[in-house]
Order: sequence, then C-alpha cells, then structure tokens
Amino acid sequence: MDYKSYFDIPENILYVNTPSNGLMPRKHYSWRREWESAFFDVRGDLRDQQGAFIADIKAAFGDLFHCPVGNLFLLPNFSFGLHTLLNGLSKGLRYALLEDDYPSLNYPVISRGLDHVKVPVDECLEDRIAEVVRKEKVDVLLLSIVQYISGMKVELPFIRQLKADNPSLIIIGDATQYLGTEPFRFVESGFDVVGGSGYKWMMAGFGNGYMMVSDRVKALLYAQAQEGPRPTESMWAKKSILDTFFEPGHQDTLSHGTLGQSVHFLKELGLENIQQYLTELTSYAYEKFEERKWLLPAIEKRKGRSALINIQINPECYGQLLESGVKCFPRGTGIRIGLHMYNDRSDVDKLVDIIGQINK
Ligand SMILES: Cc1ncc(COP(=O)(O)O)c(C=O)c1O
Repeated sequence: MDYKSYFDIPENILYVNTPSNGLMPRKHYSWRREWESAFFDVRGDLRDQQGAFIADIKAAFGDLFHCPVGNLFLLPNFSFGLHTLLNGLSKGLRYALLEDDYPSLNYPVISRGLDHVKVPVDECLEDRIAEVVRKEKVDVLLLSIVQYISGMKVELPFIRQLKADNPSLIIIGDATQYLGTEPFRFVESGFDVVGGSGYKWMMAGFGNGYMMVSDRVKALLYAQAQEGPRPTESMWAKKSILDTFFEPGHQDTLSHGTLGQSVHFLKELGLENIQQYLTELTSYAYEKFEERKWLLPAIEKRKGRSALINIQINPECYGQLLESGVKCFPRGTGIRIGLHMYNDRSDVDKLVDIIGQINK
C-alpha cells in the first residue's frame, strides 16, 4: 500500500520525526482551510453547533478505539487530562512511575507530593512492574505505553493479565507515542485510563487530545462533587459532573475536528492494515540497525518493538542529519526516529546511507 501518496513530503526531506510531531495527510489541510472559512462565515451557523460537532467526533473516536462515548473526554492535550485526573483522585494513593518516563507523566505526581515509587526500566520491563506492584503495595500504575526516549513498548497482554491479577490496581496509560499504529480496544485493554495528545501518531496536529476512563475510575473521580448537584442551566443540561472537569468551557472545533479527520482516515485505511505495514517496515529497519549495532541493548533483547527507535549514534550528528534533510531529534544517548505510514523501505535505506556517510 502506498500510504506515502496521502502526504506531501518534499523529495529532499526524510521525515522520521513522528515521535516529536506527526505529519498530517494532505486532505487534513484542505479540510482545515474549508472548515475555517465556513466556520467563521458570518452567514453560517457552524459556530452555534460546537457541542453537536464535538459529540460526533467523540462517537467516531469511541467507535474506532472501542470506548463508550460516556467514558471518553476530548482534551486540549494529554497533560491537561492527566492533571485533571490526578486532581480528582484521592490524595492518599501510592503511585508506581517508570524511571525516566516522559516528564508530563512523572512530574504531576512528584510536584503534588504524592506518594510514589519508581520502577527501574530494563529489557525485563514487565517483570520489573510486576515486582513493584507485588512488593510496594501500589494503588496506581502510571506509564507511557511506548517510552519516549527508548521506544520500549510495554506488552499489552501483560497489562491485561496484571489487571486480572490485581483488579483493584488503577492502571493509567499514556498512548501519545502509540495510538494510531495498530488496533486498540480500550474496554478490553486492562487499562482504567488511556489518554494522549493527537499530534504525533494520530497525525492530528496540535490542540487536541483524548482520555478514556473506565466506569470504576469515573466513579472514584471528584467523588464529593459527584454527590453534589448537577448544573441546572439548560445549556449545560447534557453535561455530567466529570464533563465539567475534563471538558470545561468551549472547545476548539478546528483542533478537535482535525482529530476527527484522523479518526475517519484511520478507519478508512484500517488499523489492521496499518499495523501490518508498520510491522513489516519496522522489522526491516530493526534488521538494518541491528546489523550495525545501532540499537539500545535493552531494545535489542526484547521481542515486541515499537515504531519509535533510538539509533545509537552520537547525538551530535543531529546538525549534519538536519543538513541532509533528515527530520529527527537527539534524545538520550542517540538520535530518535519514528517510522509511520508515510515512511517506507527507501526511507530506511536512505537513512542508513546518510548515517553511514556522517559516521565515517
Ligand atoms: C510519552 C509522551 N506523552 C505525552 C507527550 C506530550 O504531552 P503533551 O502534549 O501534553 O505535552 C509526549 C511528547 O513528547 C510523549 O512523548
């Protein structure tokens, strides 16, 4: 499948920077232009239909990722959602965080002074998590599904098993570096909460995010407010108490509408097909990189691998890579890349050639 044809990527650019921000398909740009002019057309009434528009996007998103609409909130970004979530949970919970996880996950816990323990991260990530959950009496596990520096992806069947073995453990996953790469069914995932921003693998630009929340956690959040009165004003008649926390105020239809466009795009192409494409493409890349000893040792030893790869070459090569048209980013001990549907084998070959030239 020629997924690249859906995107406008200049010949002299090798775009492997999805872990920083993903590209939008060409159709998104035309949709955004048309939406913007129709929305602000004085004669039109789109501005009066914001609520219904957002509701449609939620329905489509919930359908694609198997999450009932009542369990889904649309957000401006992941961080907003996590802060809102933590503010609503009881203060006495003990958290397990992953060592060196993205700061937007760990700092809201640390800066609130919440009780926490860190899980050391190595090639046996799942064993380390299970050990901490067993020994440390944690109430909440908070982790990114794909780690932003190393690309290590937690095994999703492990999460399901962990939940089955520890039904009272609240498992919160950040899917920012994951959602959009394969089929995902929230209701069967074992996660209580999965949230993320839409501008990376969802290819939906900035200003949108999502949070899927289980019934159990919904019942725990803002418990006192949930026992109080619901808003009585007619324009808020459909808002739940949790809506008033996660979706307070008017939302930007351009940003959320772009997320809606991505949902339609992914549905049309089929997440199974995208998964298959990415599995083949990344296997090809991993093989090439492994031959050259460019993989992190912990990643080399793991079975399941993500589409985010940290290439172990000197991060100072970044400038030369940029000059060669390679859009990537230095992270940790190497150069971080991501391979999404707009990349193909020729991109991997080109990257290997360019790095080979620079690394001489
Ligand atoms: C794992 C992970 N979570 C979240 C984010 C971004 O969160 P936000 O859009 O709230 O800044 C990133 C961005 O790099 C990320 O890598």
